Amino acid sequence: MSSVALSRLLAFVAASASLALAQDPTSTPTPLADKHFNYPDQVPYQADPDNGVRGTQSGFNICNSTTQNQDSLCQTAFLDFLDDFCLWSAPKPDSTIGETEHEEVAWCTQPKHGTRLIPAGALQGVQFIKTPGYLQVTGFIDQTKINLQADDFGGELDPHGADLRGNPLGGLVYSNNLPSKSGDNNTYTQVIEWHNFMGSNQFCMKVCDPADPQAPQLCQHIYDRIGVQYNCPSQPTNGTFEVCEGENQDPPGIFTSNGQVMTYTQPPESLGAITIQPYTVRMPASSNCVTFQSSDLYKALPTPSGASSASGASAIGTGASGRPVSGSATRTGSGAGPTATGAADTNAANTLKISAFATVFGALFAAAFLS
Ligand SMILES: *[C@@H]1O[C@H](CO)[C@@H](O)[C@H](O)[C@H]1NC(C)=O
Ligand SMILES: *[C@@H]1O[C@H](CO)[C@@H](O)[C@H](O)[C@H]1NC(C)=O
Ligand SMILES: *[C@@H]1O[C@H](CO)[C@@H](O)[C@H](O)[C@H]1NC(C)=O
Repeated sequence: MSSVALSRLLAFVAASASLALAQDPTSTPTPLADKHFNYPDQVPYQADPDNGVRGTQSGFNICNSTTQNQDSLCQTAFLDFLDDFCLWSAPKPDSTIGETEHEEVAWCTQPKHGTRLIPAGALQGVQFIKTPGYLQVTGFIDQTKINLQADDFGGELDPHGADLRGNPLGGLVYSNNLPSKSGDNNTYTQVIEWHNFMGSNQFCMKVCDPADPQAPQLCQHIYDRIGVQYNCPSQPTNGTFEVCEGENQDPPGIFTSNGQVMTYTQPPESLGAITIQPYTVRMPASSNCVTFQSSDLYKALPTPSGASSASGASAIGTGASGRPVSGSATRTGSGAGPTATGAADTNAANTLKISAFATVFGALFAAAFLS
């Protein structure tokens, strides 16, 4: 455990003790990241049935056609492909990630996982990338359609947290498309290390291949305050839906400066907002990007209540102007990070993308929640 995590744990334990909530102090919960269940036969009704200082798991993990609805409390998520992934978000409208991280539910793009569906038109641009070590989706979302306040700058969900029970408590993640597996869409492998950044109308969900010894580093969970730009360096374009291949990013917090490999230490929240740029992030190269129409990808998403059907998924992503399509778009990182424009990035959509991703760092300065 890092000193950051340890000091947070100690602070959390101290705060919890003073609240005198009902947890047997001699019992240590099994860390969520140590709970392994084959899918679907071993998945329990709740991965975290304990009653701890943060209460009990709010939802459940056995999800099927009877739990497939927009009030579902399913907490089993998937990241398979551009057309088949889930994000964690709040169960009730008008929420913030910071206040609901313990109880997030899965919002998915396919009606086959027993979860809520991300409403039509919410996804505005998504990049799915497969690297040797992980799968990742990053992109743009109207987060009000998944129960978040319009201006919520959000935070990080991961299977750790100060009490090691995860955010959400008991949340499980599976994939049928991990780099070390291939071909069989019906075989799902539990992802042990993953992280999901939600907020500022953007998201990153990354699942690290458990077969890769670097998984804990690539899906590091201790840099919750510095956002997608550092944890998921990538170049999604608002309005574009694409599948890419790519190289691994440098693990969050690890960077090279003057030829020396350095480790960033995220300051504790008690020291106030992070006002100095943490470090210069290396943009990992992507290649063989293929674009899709969102109307071909997300066919089963419900129109949100009260919304005009004209803003449905089919209206989005058809005008992706300018970006090189399929195969030609190899982008290598120069180390300048998402604030720099690549040679091909001269169109309006990319300018929007870059400024939007750049603002997340600013927004996350103020973030204050448990990793
Ligand atoms: C479907 O999911 C519900 C809720 O988790 C569970 O109670 C039920 O047993 C499941 N049904 C089947 C057939 O697995
Ligand atoms: C597996 O899933 C991928 C992504 O959705 C799809 O392109 C492919 O056709 C599927 N394979 C089979 C055999 O269904
Ligand atoms: C993405 O594009 C949509 C549609 O043009 C726009 O409403 C939204 O504000 C953009 N998102 C960001 C974060 O720039």
